[in-house]
Amino acid sequence: MYEDLEIIHNKCSVCTKCPLHKTKHHTVFSDGVPNPKLMLIGEAPGYNEDMQGKPFVGKAGQLLDKIFASVGLTRKEHVYICNTIKCRPPENRNPLPEEKEACWEYLKAQIDIIQPKIILLCGNVAVQSILGNVGGITKVRGKWYEGGEIVHGAKLMPIFHPSYLLRNDSREKGSPKWLMWQDIQEIRRVYDSL
Ligand code: URA
Repeated sequence: MYEDLEIIHNKCSVCTKCPLHKTKHHTVFSDGVPNPKLMLIGEAPGYNEDMQGKPFVGKAGQLLDKIFASVGLTRKEHVYICNTIKCRPPENRNPLPEEKEACWEYLKAQIDIIQPKIILLCGNVAVQSILGNVGGITKVRGKWYEGGEIVHGAKLMPIFHPSYLLRNDSREKGSPKWLMWQDIQEIRRVYDSL
């Protein structure tokens, strides 16, 4: 498993299938454990991720770590983290369809090798990539989806992106942060049952 992921990582590092390889500093392949029950798919690397070659290392990543820690989960022990695309889009714009398509083979290989029991789809871009047009994140978050064969029967849950939570500071009942707290507890409950 480690070797297979290493092979894909190396292939991805020298990929030239879309123009993003020309402007990136580092390919951002993954972080966390390679044999977990839980995988998180984010959107795309930002500035900090591009500089360090690791996903979710900026402010949003720190918040994500806190969210996991609130239910006793860490990326060192429990989670594999990656993104829909592996190179940073200029100015952090959303990935283009052709960039997502070019990068799909790497994400699919990560899913195929790891075969997690739960996949968290973090934000609209990840939801769209795996589930298609099921609706916006505020409608679909917190619900379990069966992803079928393409994800080897994993349970899928869309969740808010931590960047969105950073822009919405309220913790009141019904606020995005409050909803995320509900979702992560539900995720931990199902995680323990699998
Ligand atoms: N946002 C993402 O979606 N992924 C990262 O790796 C960092 C920020």
